[in-house]
Amino acid sequence: MSAILIYTLRKNMALISTARGLIFLALLGIWASSQATCRTLHEPSSMLERHEQWMARYGRSYEDITEKEMRFQIFKRNVEYIESFNSVGNRPYKLSVNLFADQSNEEFQASHNGYKRTSNPTSSPVTAFRYENVTAVPSSIDWRKKGAVTPIKDQGTCGCCWAFSAVAAMEGITSITNGKSVSLSEQEVVDCDTSGEDQGCEGGLMDDAFKFIIQNKGLTTEENYPYKGVDGTCNKNKAASHAATIAGYEDVPANNEKELLKAVANQPVSVAIDASGSDFQFYSSGVFTGECGTELDHGVTAVGYGTAKDGTKYWLVKNSWGTSWGEEGYIRMKRDIDAKEGLCGIAMESSYPTA
Ligand SMILES: *[C@@H]1O[C@H](CO)[C@@H](O)[C@H](O)[C@H]1NC(C)=O
Repeated sequence: MSAILIYTLRKNMALISTARGLIFLALLGIWASSQATCRTLHEPSSMLERHEQWMARYGRSYEDITEKEMRFQIFKRNVEYIESFNSVGNRPYKLSVNLFADQSNEEFQASHNGYKRTSNPTSSPVTAFRYENVTAVPSSIDWRKKGAVTPIKDQGTCGCCWAFSAVAAMEGITSITNGKSVSLSEQEVVDCDTSGEDQGCEGGLMDDAFKFIIQNKGLTTEENYPYKGVDGTCNKNKAASHAATIAGYEDVPANNEKELLKAVANQPVSVAIDASGSDFQFYSSGVFTGECGTELDHGVTAVGYGTAKDGTKYWLVKNSWGTSWGEEGYIRMKRDIDAKEGLCGIAMESSYPTA
């Protein structure tokens, strides 16, 4: 775990590290003439420069030269993969050298997801599905345009995607019901939803988050209980101040994109997906068509659907990895695929809170 977290995220260090980087490169040049053991020294300087520029852009610094060399090798492998992927014409989506470019896929999986797959799905009681008789749905919907989606948030290296997913769905139904858009607190869920299965940064489930919110009789605002990105002690005073409430939650019938469509036509919906692949890690734009499996490991929120210019149907999905990932923090994922689970398992375990 510590290996994953060795680098530190310090945005205000970005400029300093650029200057330090230049000095470092100069020293490296001197050092290079006397030693030839470090593989970095044989790399084309352009890749080293790109790494330095990338570090400055994302405010990344490393503990020591060993760490830096290791990160550089991962960065280089990722850049090569991304460029070779993008060089193939007619791809429906593109990848980019984004904030995860110095992480191996294994590290990425360990630190940015956090959805705990329902261990025994058949044991969970089947809830009512209020949209079962919906017959007419619009051909497209974008809940952002209706003011039901708050700006993109960033979970950082805390695996509490499940809290972001549940809160985004709650923000949606709150806005639709009350006509007021309010950003609600994920940190309250991370800190206070600890008596059940949910484990803050170590993972959880959206349905369990909904259960907690119902028991707690609501959630406070993001402003009142701001996001810290680490497990903390529950602030009971803040948790007792309720900016919004939900009455219950319902699961969308599993493995059926048509049923999911009925729900998303009516409100933003929490969905679980398999976000473990490199293509998901580096997704930047277009309609995502895979590679991905159905080992659900990430909670996100479906906030709309539509059809791209080339006719590809997609789900509009809100992620919690900041705005530099994907399409300003969103991903469009192919909809109505041949498999009943949906792309990356998006139709397997979805649910929504009720007003
Ligand atoms: C859907 O229709 C059936 C048959 O009319 C009815 O029994 C059921 O209550 C309806 N479901 C909802 C959620 O309204």
